[in-house]
Amino acid sequence: SQSAVHVINHLDRDYLRQALEHDVRAGLTAMPKQLPPKWFYDATGSELFTQITRLPEYYPTRRELAILRERAADIAAACGADTLVELGSGTSEKTVLLLDALTEAGTLRAYTPVDVDALTLTEAARRITARSPGLTVRAVCADFEHHLGLLPRAGRRMVAFLGGTVGNLDPAARAIFLKDLRATLRPGDTFLLGADLVKDTARLVAAYDDAAGVTAAFNRNVLHVINRELEADFAPDAFEHVALYDERNDWIEMRLRATRDLRVRVGGLGLSVSFAAGEEMRTEISAKFRLEGLRDELAAAGFATLRQYTDPTGDFSLTLAGV
Ligand code: AVJ
Repeated sequence: SQSAVHVINHLDRDYLRQALEHDVRAGLTAMPKQLPPKWFYDATGSELFTQITRLPEYYPTRRELAILRERAADIAAACGADTLVELGSGTSEKTVLLLDALTEAGTLRAYTPVDVDALTLTEAARRITARSPGLTVRAVCADFEHHLGLLPRAGRRMVAFLGGTVGNLDPAARAIFLKDLRATLRPGDTFLLGADLVKDTARLVAAYDDAAGVTAAFNRNVLHVINRELEADFAPDAFEHVALYDERNDWIEMRLRATRDLRVRVGGLGLSVSFAAGEEMRTEISAKFRLEGLRDELAAAGFATLRQYTDPTGDFSLTLAGV
């Protein structure tokens, strides 16, 4: 029989339902309309994201992997962690490199993956447990923006937040997130942050508007999620995928553009909203950073940068910070 994995769930059905209801009501009645990227990741959305990471245009995953292959041993030696906590762990594909390096260094005892998608989380925890039977795996189903205070605090921890997901937060939300995270850490704990870097606009846009249309399907998936969970009647085909780079804010923005006048009913909210032809609804920001800007934002939250790495092309970064 398969070894049991310990999953702690802070996202019961009620919590998820209420958070989705709140976000959809607030987002569809706002001007301009917007939805938070968190709701992309049901089973289909998580699978589409995995496909995105394999697209020729989508460089971040490969670049971050390249940095980890090169630097995991250095990171392990510098952090001395016995517990790896990973926020937004997804499939935990890249994590293995950190886990192996910490094992090599002789310090590792526990791994705590944290993700909103219970299924992906549980599968990842099973895989890691099967691979490293001696490791204590405590998976936590939680929202990293709201549940940092509930994460296990035992041991000397390194909190890893990889993939560039920090870019989903706008600067104000980032400052709050970093301060909240800092408040949960003790001396000796560290934070490893993966962040995508500012680069040629055409390459950035292509990474979010791939030729095969996988990112477009990922973007529209949020409408399927709302249809299913909140008894809505979005016609996903009536929306076009838009990806643009906002040079003033240094972020990619994904939007869904109504191709005709539409009326959408969200049964579960008793809400009807209309879209004018051409109206755009923001579904994600993905901020791009400069190395110095990352150090400054970390310092403002009370972190001290210990190491900063980029891949040879300078596309992506990892920053290790202490408290
Ligand atoms: C998972 C948030 C890092 O912003 O690049 C990929 C999500 N959106 N393609 C990103 C995403 C469109 C991704 N993160």
